[in-house]
Amino acid sequence: MRKIVLGIETSCDDTSIGILAQDNGKTEVLAHKTFGQEEILKTWGGVVPEIAARNHLQKLVPLLRSTTEKAKIELSDVDLIGVTAVPGLLGPLLTGLNAAKTMAMIAQKPIMPVNHLYAHLEAIHLTEEVKYPYLGLLISGGHSIFFLVESSQDFQVLGSTIDDAAGEAFDKGGKLMGLGYPAGKIIDDIAKDGNSQAFEFPIGLKSSADCRLSFSGLKTSMRVFLEKNPSIANDHSSDEFKDLCASYQNAIVSALKLKTRYAYKKIVELGFPKDLPLIVGGGVACNSAIRKALMQTYKNVKFVDPKYCADNGAMIANYALINSDKAIPFPECLDLDARGRFIDKKEFSGKTSQSK
Ligand code: KG4
Ligand code: ZN
Repeated sequence: MRKIVLGIETSCDDTSIGILAQDNGKTEVLAHKTFGQEEILKTWGGVVPEIAARNHLQKLVPLLRSTTEKAKIELSDVDLIGVTAVPGLLGPLLTGLNAAKTMAMIAQKPIMPVNHLYAHLEAIHLTEEVKYPYLGLLISGGHSIFFLVESSQDFQVLGSTIDDAAGEAFDKGGKLMGLGYPAGKIIDDIAKDGNSQAFEFPIGLKSSADCRLSFSGLKTSMRVFLEKNPSIANDHSSDEFKDLCASYQNAIVSALKLKTRYAYKKIVELGFPKDLPLIVGGGVACNSAIRKALMQTYKNVKFVDPKYCADNGAMIANYALINSDKAIPFPECLDLDARGRFIDKKEFSGKTSQSK
């Protein structure tokens, strides 16, 4: 029987809805639309939680209308509503949760509260056949974590950043260089024409023999570099500036490459085979240099399709679909205590739950 799942994502600055259909075990993305707030948030140089929440509120209804139209479905056709429940910014999360409850009330359907981090990695199943267990590397604007993933609900943290996330390293470094927000894709594009060996930037926790990451020192070294070489950031089209972007990006790439080796080491210590698939997801997984370096270094690596890497509703619908046995039935899903339950109960967050 055909099953339709609608996913809502509002954990940070992107408002996104995805609609999936599953028929005879095959999953198809019927529609998938995102309203990014990048243009609005550029004015503020980053995400302002209250402004992001207000924008979600404004955009959710028109986005729902256009996504259901594209999918050629009515709300009453939806069998399950997936919504990001954790982690994220409180105001933005609440707008999505309230939208999900309103839809559930109208359509009288269950809700599956989704852990956004797990959804990023599990988005791999939208385009690839991957079996558990696998080594997951989540690299986004808010998180950088190595997970051992034994099932769609069993995520064990092997190591994570002790300060900034990889995406923050791109965004904060880019801000210092006078690039727009978010800067990840801009640096990626400029770095393609630069020499990644031109300048030396540090790899955080280089000598710690574990898979913890650290990127705050890298950002500081960019600040120091620009203080010493103020002219380089003045001309974004110069060769030196391209070299600067390539060299800065290379420090992030090298850190991820090195720490993946330690993550594999830990996996072997835990008694798992050394050739487990490596699955890489999250917005930073779009980065072309990271893709190239990890593919050259690790045989069994798969990346989430770039269109499902950044925050999106399709990955939320996908996670809800895979875990639909954990959905909260209607009308229980409308309970006032539902939000607290979404966050605290172990069955929704696996062995760990991380906050932004
Ligand atoms: O997964 P995501 O949409 O949001 C979070 O869950 O945090 O990731 C957003 C991050 C931003 O930091 C952005 O700069 C980064 O992903 N990003 C990139 C690229 N595209 C997006 N970083 C490096 N290279 C890219 N091509
Ligand atoms: Zn995300």
